[in-house]
Amino acid sequence: MPLHARIQRAVRQLILDGVLGPGKSLPASRALAKSLGVSRDTVEAAYAQLHAEGFIVRRVGSGSFVAEMTEFLSGHRRSKRDALLRNQAPNLSKRGSAVFQSGGVREMSLPRPFAHGVPDTRSFPLPLWERLERQVLKETGTQALLHGDPQGAEPLRRAIADYVNLERGARATADRVLVLTSSQQAMTLCANMLLDSGERIFIEDPAYYGARKAFDAAGLECIPIHVDDQGIIVDPILDEPRRAKAIFLTPSHQFPTGATLALDRRLALIEWAARHQAWIIEDDYDSEFHYAGKPTACVQGLDPHDRTIYIGTFTKSLFPGLRIGYVVLPPQLVKPMTVARTLLDGHTAAMAQLTLARFMEGGHFGAHVRTMRGIYAQRLDVLSGLVRKHLSDFVEPRVPIGGLQMPCVLTCEISERVAIDAARRVGVELLGLSALHAAGDGKAGFLMGFAAYTPAELESAVRKLANALQTVKRT
Ligand SMILES: Cc1ncc(COP(=O)(O)O)c(C=O)c1O
Repeated sequence: MPLHARIQRAVRQLILDGVLGPGKSLPASRALAKSLGVSRDTVEAAYAQLHAEGFIVRRVGSGSFVAEMTEFLSGHRRSKRDALLRNQAPNLSKRGSAVFQSGGVREMSLPRPFAHGVPDTRSFPLPLWERLERQVLKETGTQALLHGDPQGAEPLRRAIADYVNLERGARATADRVLVLTSSQQAMTLCANMLLDSGERIFIEDPAYYGARKAFDAAGLECIPIHVDDQGIIVDPILDEPRRAKAIFLTPSHQFPTGATLALDRRLALIEWAARHQAWIIEDDYDSEFHYAGKPTACVQGLDPHDRTIYIGTFTKSLFPGLRIGYVVLPPQLVKPMTVARTLLDGHTAAMAQLTLARFMEGGHFGAHVRTMRGIYAQRLDVLSGLVRKHLSDFVEPRVPIGGLQMPCVLTCEISERVAIDAARRVGVELLGLSALHAAGDGKAGFLMGFAAYTPAELESAVRKLANALQTVKRT
């Protein structure tokens, strides 16, 4: 780097660090040149550049000074100012404040036992994925770098339609599939496109927090309806005189109880939705992992009136970093929902969509799900055995028929909060059950995710948890 540039950079750094504050005079160019042992032209060139960039002002006859506006550039002052601003009220809209207060949905980036809902990414066939991605790039060339169809890449929509028809008993065609980034995005779209602020939606009680937060953020009035071992109880819905515009369900595997919605209840809700022109929002988030026979067919496939929006995701069946979810829509919703998604994020990344389409077409998706189903079934078995062996003084496991997590109900006098805090202190994650209930009055207990952890990791974490709970009990 030329000498004058080095001098200019050094002076600029002193200004940015706040060592040379606003208004401070700089040495005369002749004096600085002498003390640095360089020519005066070199210092003049450095000063000229600092002047051109606005870091210094030059006054004929009195010299060069650090510009006043550099006050906002100095790192020290900048961090002080940022700290002040951070503590100020952010002046958000009412909606913005409600979203901020809700805390959003933030999953762990490095999950540790027993973080729930996380698939095992260590068993994912990455070399195969990488090969398919390379094939896609070779074939599509720069086309894949351009904007894509907001409804989703056609090959992927076709693969998804084939999959949900065959495996989930849905009634889908490629032109009714909208590819999104996640089921979370699907819930936000449904909340904003199908209901107005202040309108009512029935939700399960207990409920999936991500859905609840999406509906709250859209200003909807959530009406919680109890869940028993056959899923949501339909009588209060059928008897409710006040109109609700929609119902949110996790019918294959209720979150968090694990119940499957009984067929007569599914049919009753389909009739209710048709009668009231209401929507059924069906979140089928982890039905790939059913360990006792096939999961029941989805509600969407049973609904002859086209009032059901089916939501699927690859977060559990493949990996969360993929960020691909989808909805199967009634025909009249395809265009409005596609337009709405253009305002959220335009479209889902083309490379990931085309690679996934190829993964599905080649039969790799089915094969991966089958492999993982075997692994997860074994891990569930290991975890339930460990809980019975080491935690029987504290909890009763409710072994689910599917999914990636097992609910446990507390049977001792230790409170849910105390148990969760004690677990966290020894590096074990638990999701409390009572917070998922509308009035926070549900059975105390927690969810234990098992899918992402090896039997040895499960054992070590159960032992840690047992010790932590013993310690709490003694004190
Ligand atoms: C019931 C339920 N729905 C949806 C999701 C999230 O899926 P996505 O990552 O596609 O938003 C989860 C994840 O934990 C879930 O438990």
